[in-house]
Amino acid sequence: MSTMKAVRIHEYGASDVLTYENAPLPVPGEGEILVRVHATTVNPLDIAIRSGYMANYFNHSLPLILGTDVSGTVEDLGPNTNSFSLGDEVYARAGVTRDGSYAEFVLVNAADIAAKPQSLDHAHAAALPHVTLTAWQALFELGNLRKGQTVLIHGAAGGVGHIAVQLAKWRGANVIGTASQNIDLIENLGVEQAIDYSKTAFEDAVQEVDMVLDTIGGDTQERSWSTLKRGGSLVSIVEAPSEEIATNYGVRQAMVFTAPPIAETLTKVAELVNAGQIQPVVSMVLPFDDVKNAHQIVEKKHTRGKIALQVAP
Ligand SMILES: NC(=O)c1ccc[n+]([C@@H]2O[C@H](COP(=O)([O-])OP(=O)(O)OC[C@H]3O[C@@H](n4cnc5c(N)ncnc54)[C@H](OP(=O)(O)O)[C@@H]3O)[C@@H](O)[C@H]2O)c1
Repeated sequence: MSTMKAVRIHEYGASDVLTYENAPLPVPGEGEILVRVHATTVNPLDIAIRSGYMANYFNHSLPLILGTDVSGTVEDLGPNTNSFSLGDEVYARAGVTRDGSYAEFVLVNAADIAAKPQSLDHAHAAALPHVTLTAWQALFELGNLRKGQTVLIHGAAGGVGHIAVQLAKWRGANVIGTASQNIDLIENLGVEQAIDYSKTAFEDAVQEVDMVLDTIGGDTQERSWSTLKRGGSLVSIVEAPSEEIATNYGVRQAMVFTAPPIAETLTKVAELVNAGQIQPVVSMVLPFDDVKNAHQIVEKKHTRGKIALQVAP
């Protein structure tokens, strides 16, 4: 077998550039693992890459297979990859700078893969890598969130947000979340305060928080400064906050550009999932070839948790 089914783009554009077709089967090189993909998910990053928004940033060559999340089984091992055996169930962050996981098979660096949480099926395990690594980096590496502190999480019902809520609670923080049509989800996740941003100006309802996690940017970021206590921090995953404004408010600011050590963090996350501390919410599992529909739904920016694509049973 030298080909596989994949969803590729041959040009940047709207969701109709997503093409379900045959693509070459990749062969693992030094330090690489070939994973048989059972499930992947749609992240806003995939949409940004598809639309050409990231063309100068990543310098991808086309055609390109999109997709950053994968849950599946080990199909083949390149040289110097001795941490897994053929058939092991794994989950990983793939793609980003090269062909990704909208495919029957994907190459993953051995440093970016971990044993899949046993308590989850593939669709739920695939919901974790990209958003959980992002939330972890924002809350713990950049925001240094500690037990007893209070964090305001914007977009708390979305992919990153719903995991950030659970990680922050696991850390022992008090969580204030914003959402609108998915507000019931964040209430169910146990936030201390749920704010419907379509009805309430959050800056009127929140004061003196230790940290803001900004998953929205723009006006939401601007209005967040006044909710922080002096010495607090605003961490954004979408738009670099102004250093000058941060200084004026006496707070720190940071932007998430990188991930924490991936295999190590995913291993820790799997332990938390297996212990029932965090659970991904997958609001839809769509067939692989329904990827255009999945992109159109995520583009509406009201995703509840995650939307997964089932590639194999
Ligand atoms: N820097 C990085 O490394 C990194 C990593 C991951 C993601 N990101 C970026 O971070 C952003 C969020 O990612 P995601 O995967 O969480 O997106 P997502 O799942 O598409 O987020 C959807 C959620 O956003 C909420 N929302 C929409 N407008 C809002 C507003 N004004 N205030 C509060 N909540 C609002 C919606 O809640 P309601 O439906 O209830 O309104 C919905 O649940 C994207 O732009 C993505 O590209 C960056």
